[in-house]
Amino acid sequence: MRERTNPLEPILEISGSVGDPRVRALLTSFFGEEGLKVRGRPFSSLFASSPLSTMKGLEGEGKLLEHTLRVTRSALAVAPIYGVKGFELDLLLAACLLHDAGKVLCYGKDERGRTVLSEEGLLDHVVLGLNLVAAQASRLGLPLELLNLLSHAISCHHHLTGRPKPEPRTLPASILASVDALDSLALSLDRGGSNPAGLMARLLDQDQVPQASGEPQGLLELR
Ligand SMILES: [Fe+2]
Ligand SMILES: [Fe+2]
Repeated sequence: MRERTNPLEPILEISGSVGDPRVRALLTSFFGEEGLKVRGRPFSSLFASSPLSTMKGLEGEGKLLEHTLRVTRSALAVAPIYGVKGFELDLLLAACLLHDAGKVLCYGKDERGRTVLSEEGLLDHVVLGLNLVAAQASRLGLPLELLNLLSHAISCHHHLTGRPKPEPRTLPASILASVDALDSLALSLDRGGSNPAGLMARLLDQDQVPQASGEPQGLLELR
């Protein structure tokens, strides 16, 4: 029988590619087997099974992990275009992987098995995540400057409840905020948002090349 692979394998692979030993140690302290425990359970297993939201389609187990991977892979694709490399890239990857870490504390189940917001979830996942990162950074003795840069990127990805979103002042913070917003937009289309999918389908249906005639024609005649 084929052994079940660790769902966090892609995260561990990206974490392992981080060059700065301090940033790598921080990521290992979250996602590694011997890492942080939250409510008596390994952070890594909570992270692998957490929903992304209470919204339909995002409330299932593993949705947080899927979102985090899309955000991190998008950031990896964009980074070279803007010359992000070395320590700046390490910071970007850490910010992407940890930006929604607080969500592991945000959800529970009601008596009908539906995903609901937990009491801690009411406090805002950004604040919860920043607290987890600060606690681990302190445990590992990371420099305050590193923690501040990482906290800035994490805090800019989302508005705190009832407050305006802080403006990103670094490239890692800007890239994270942008790719995170892109994923939210793409997910809202998947969930039946304002996606004119019919136009696309009709366009793809018209696979014949129009014949030239004496009459001027539009490129595509959409009926
Ligand atoms: Fe978030
Ligand atoms: Fe996110």
